[in-house]
Amino acid sequence: MEAPLIDPFQRPVNYLRVSVTDRCDFRCSYCMSEDMTFLPKRQLLTLEELDTVSSAFIGLGVRKLRVTGGEPLVRRGIMTYFEAMARHLESGALQELTLTTNGSQLHRFAPDLAALGMRRVNISLDTLNETKFAEITRWGRLPNVIRGIDAAQAAGLRVKINAVALKGFNEDELFDMVEWCASRDMDLTFIEVMPMGDMGEEDRLSQYWPLKELRARLAERYSLIDLAESTGGPARYVRLDETGQKVGFITPLTHNFCESCNRVRLTCTGELYMCLGQEDRADLRPSLREPTAPPLEDAIRAAIARKPKGHDFDYSRQEIGGQMPRHMSHTGG
Ligand code: 5AD
Ligand code: SF4
Repeated sequence: MEAPLIDPFQRPVNYLRVSVTDRCDFRCSYCMSEDMTFLPKRQLLTLEELDTVSSAFIGLGVRKLRVTGGEPLVRRGIMTYFEAMARHLESGALQELTLTTNGSQLHRFAPDLAALGMRRVNISLDTLNETKFAEITRWGRLPNVIRGIDAAQAAGLRVKINAVALKGFNEDELFDMVEWCASRDMDLTFIEVMPMGDMGEEDRLSQYWPLKELRARLAERYSLIDLAESTGGPARYVRLDETGQKVGFITPLTHNFCESCNRVRLTCTGELYMCLGQEDRADLRPSLREPTAPPLEDAIRAAIARKPKGHDFDYSRQEIGGQMPRHMSHTGG
């Protein structure tokens, strides 16, 4: 076995998030503009190249792989990639293969994903109201997503719901969403809205609903038991004593998780972001396409050696410092 990936701050890198497409069949207002332009196809890594890079990381000790987008399930032929990753599950090299999806196509894919060894999926869902759902996603339809959730659970996949906390949008649904998830035996994680892409400045500040506030509101109705577990990411978890369910809080804008950061992100064009909150990235594509470029493993190791200590998002001033010009659909959240 090769020496595993360790960054300059002694953090093992054992979690890879792979964005397989920048495209999506939704246009969530906090994520994309309505007239998004997407990358030309030739700039995307092919499914075979995605396999090569992912497998290289697994060879270097990555144990958990999450497939993201955009919406991963709109990429043509994506099952070929999942099947390729499943061979690492079978060999035991990979411990977990997971997916973050908007759920729109999940009813078609859930049985095959479960069959190849996937055990859990994260589904993004910000509201249970059909009208509001159509409003926030612009192109999405709630019944399709519910059908996807049904199919996932029927296939035996454990479902976690990810909801972006939006002031004045889903504040009034906090308890409804908690109860709905509890009734379906699903965990629920709230995500603080991040200053990404070109959502209007106005939207970003007015929709910012600090999870500290959300948590305080939850505590008015439930007893929150802090859970020690950490995934190495920006999520913290509590258990609601009354329902028994797990509720997570993802606050990417705070620094409190950087010291345990175990992850890097591969974009669909083959760029590796060593930190969600920094622009620095390493282009791995030459190592896949150009014979004179450094071998892939060297390029990966050189990138990990540049992983920064932390990021510098900052909401504390009234303007948004450390704002990232790129979209979540590019780096995959
Ligand atoms: N802030 C927080 N979360 C975001 N996502 C997309 N854009 C943002 C943003 N600006 C989330 C989606 C989904 C995942 C793919 O990324 O809601 O859960
Ligand atoms: Fe698509 Fe997810 Fe972005 Fe919504 S948040 S537009 S579902 S990638």
